[in-house]
Amino acid sequence: SFQEKIPEGLSRLPGPKPLPIIGNVLEMGSRPYLSLTEMSKRYGNVFQIQIGMRPVVVLSGNETVRQALIKQGDDFAGRPDLYSFRFISEGKSLAFSTDQAGVWRARRKLAYSALRSFSTLEGTTPEYSCVLEEHISKEAEYLVKQLNTVMKADGSFDPFRYIVVSVANVICGMCFGRRYDHHDQELLSLVNLSDEFGQWWAVATQADFIPILQYLPNKTMKKFVNINGRFISFVQKIVNEHYATFNKDNIRDITDSLIDHCEDRKLDENANVQMSDEKVVGIVNDLFGVGFDTISTALSWSVMYLVAYPEIQERLYQELKENVGLDRTPVLSDRNNLPLLEAFILEIFRHSSFLPFTIPHCTTKDTSLNGYHIPKDTCVFINQWQINHDPELWKEPSSFNPDRFLSADGTEVNRVDGEKVMIFGMGKRRCIGEVIARNEVYMFLAILIQKLHFHNLPGEPLDMTPEYGLTMKHKRCQLRATARVRSDH
Ligand code: HEM
Repeated sequence: SFQEKIPEGLSRLPGPKPLPIIGNVLEMGSRPYLSLTEMSKRYGNVFQIQIGMRPVVVLSGNETVRQALIKQGDDFAGRPDLYSFRFISEGKSLAFSTDQAGVWRARRKLAYSALRSFSTLEGTTPEYSCVLEEHISKEAEYLVKQLNTVMKADGSFDPFRYIVVSVANVICGMCFGRRYDHHDQELLSLVNLSDEFGQWWAVATQADFIPILQYLPNKTMKKFVNINGRFISFVQKIVNEHYATFNKDNIRDITDSLIDHCEDRKLDENANVQMSDEKVVGIVNDLFGVGFDTISTALSWSVMYLVAYPEIQERLYQELKENVGLDRTPVLSDRNNLPLLEAFILEIFRHSSFLPFTIPHCTTKDTSLNGYHIPKDTCVFINQWQINHDPELWKEPSSFNPDRFLSADGTEVNRVDGEKVMIFGMGKRRCIGEVIARNEVYMFLAILIQKLHFHNLPGEPLDMTPEYGLTMKHKRCQLRATARVRSDH
């Protein structure tokens, strides 16, 4: 590719010199979001590395990324054909597959409207403004009970272990119309795999790019294939049950609505995008898989930050006490009256950047950016971590400081700064679960902070070092929670 002719007026991409066969993998090291951020200081916001034999363009900087993903959105909207992506949902994933633009767009639209209609559906009682609020409220209350019970029995708990089940239940409720007990072995064994699923990315970034590794025995890769297999059969079983009990006049959940869509389409001779039923119903795989892993990671980090910054935890509790009170559970509509909580969540997204890169993109045609030529089918990494830690955008980017998002009197969140936080991607491939995710993280946190006080075990300092992966997790650890005493108001 280095021999490729560069169109007149454009320049060749800068970047470090690659070694034969392995390219630049040594310079990338085990924390690519840091090493690639360092490289952006030397080579600029558009540069090229080589992972194995494959050139990868790395984009940094808010303006450059905005130009690529929004103004030149179609040029950068593809997904690369990576070896490990073929195992996710058997290659039928909406988020990871290399579907042609027409098919991908049709599936994305379907997924989006299914999510929206089921999250805004009315709750079962007028007490709740929508079914999403009802699910979250019930699961969060149940989580608080669980944590109190576990604290009594064991004296400490693993935050991720319990949060992941609650979050999985919210999305299970919407996708499959069911919930699971916190000790349900089938669900537990599945959701606890998500740690390992995330770590796959660290390894896959090598196997994907250095083809010879695909043929060598590779424990992590095997595990990854196995995890995906178990995940698919879990969902497939539920989908089969839905087909067996499907009733057009009673659409129970997202799975039903997708099946319904397939039935309608068979009658519609004008349907212009050809898609198999599997590709339609397979959307539920994406919604469930992406939905619980990302939100449980965000919440688990949130609890870690509460423990790491006890004075902020106290301020958040006071804010809830004053603006919601302690006699009722916080609801979605309280969100606007809790600016510190909003700022805290924004700062967690920014500071942790637990999705350091978006899902890899791919150019759909020859294009150019900042004067550099980028050929069709080039894999593109978007460095979200860099944008969230760019000293051009943020004062003291490495310090954790929710107040950076608040007005001087603390009563208002600065929306413009809030929008600079890059964690959901942007443009054509922007996350479709963003509204649900923000509401869910907010409501779980509000309820947890109102009812519990979190701390670490005496003499056991917190380890906040992220473990690199597609979604970065903190190390598993034990924490304590004490019930807030109601009589203090
Ligand atoms: C894509 C972040 C929650 C569904 C993405 C992307 C990011 C992201 C960075 C990739 C954007 C790109 O490639 O440029 C997050 C974060 C979440 C979250 C930080 C939680 C805090 C959710 C939830 C759902 C969801 C709850 C569904 C219920 C999806 C789907 C895609 C996606 C389907 C693929 C879109 C496409 O390829 O067209 N998300 N997400 N996400 N997300 Fe989320």
